Amino acid sequence: MLWRLFHKSAIHKYCHGEKPWAVVTGSTDGIGKELARVLLESNFNVLLHGRSEEKLNKLSQAFKLEFPHLDLAVVVADASKPDTFANIVEALQGKHVTVFINNVPYSEQAMNIFADDSAAQVQRGLDMGVQFVTKLTHGVLPILIKNGPSLLINNGSLVAAIPGPYLAVYASSKAYLKTFTNCLAIESKRYGQGVEVLYMDIHNVNSGGNKTPVSFTTPSSNDMAKAIIRAVGCGKTEVTPYWTHELMRWIFPLVPNSVLVDTIATTLETTIKKQT
Ligand SMILES: NC(=O)c1ccc[n+]([C@@H]2O[C@H](COP(=O)([O-])OP(=O)(O)OC[C@H]3O[C@@H](n4cnc5c(N)ncnc54)[C@H](OP(=O)(O)O)[C@@H]3O)[C@@H](O)[C@H]2O)c1
Repeated sequence: MLWRLFHKSAIHKYCHGEKPWAVVTGSTDGIGKELARVLLESNFNVLLHGRSEEKLNKLSQAFKLEFPHLDLAVVVADASKPDTFANIVEALQGKHVTVFINNVPYSEQAMNIFADDSAAQVQRGLDMGVQFVTKLTHGVLPILIKNGPSLLINNGSLVAAIPGPYLAVYASSKAYLKTFTNCLAIESKRYGQGVEVLYMDIHNVNSGGNKTPVSFTTPSSNDMAKAIIRAVGCGKTEVTPYWTHELMRWIFPLVPNSVLVDTIATTLETTIKKQT
């Protein structure tokens, strides 16, 4: 918590070269879209990724009007088909990419008990939450190393750290992402790769996929995006970027586990009832 008092974002460290580019996956809505905006405000040219060409072109045109001095590019790749990661890697060729954010979520499946998920739903969760992000990062990392100093951010979730019933595949894929990020961060430091690797512990945020109204504990996507970029260079690999969320992370260990599990399960069960 104290790091917030003295820390200033180091994002400008990565804005180097003749024409620096930042890439955000899943950037047609929610936190991804606002991350793209904050990066444009920080003077990066931005490559937007999504699954809808129409949405991407519309957003790119709107951003171009707001930021006429910067370049925008778009790439279509359906993250539920993991081998489409190659479209993104190809789109980076010839661009001086120094910032890459793995943001695309697995958000479209309704909460459910795992036993009731179809085989196709389970496969989709693994494809998006594990395969796509891993293959994509494997393709992108050599480019970030070559262009260093550079930045890799993986957007995670609170459910990687506390029980996430009814979200079994999603929660587990975020736990995978957390471990994956920590491994890459250590490798980068020990091999002097020049890539800052960060895992963002994100809690409830008002976004395209989450219509919870903005409140003290539920920031807007824009506030979350600003908090993520503000945390760059803070010296930790796992960061809880939004301050009220970090406060909650301090409180959770003080709550008996049985009470925490019961509260989470009951809250999610209420959400499931609203879904049906
Ligand atoms: N919001 C929260 O409460 C919350 C909490 C914890 C963690 N997070 C994490 O924060 C990140 C952003 O979440 P968000 O709530 O901002 O998401 P969101 O509002 O639902 O936006 C998701 C973005 O990803 C794109 N997308 C979805 N499925 C895709 C696919 N198969 N292929 C390519 N693109 C796809 C969407 O495109 P379309 O516009 O075409 O749908 C959209 O641009 C995620 O990693 C999520 O796990 C969010």
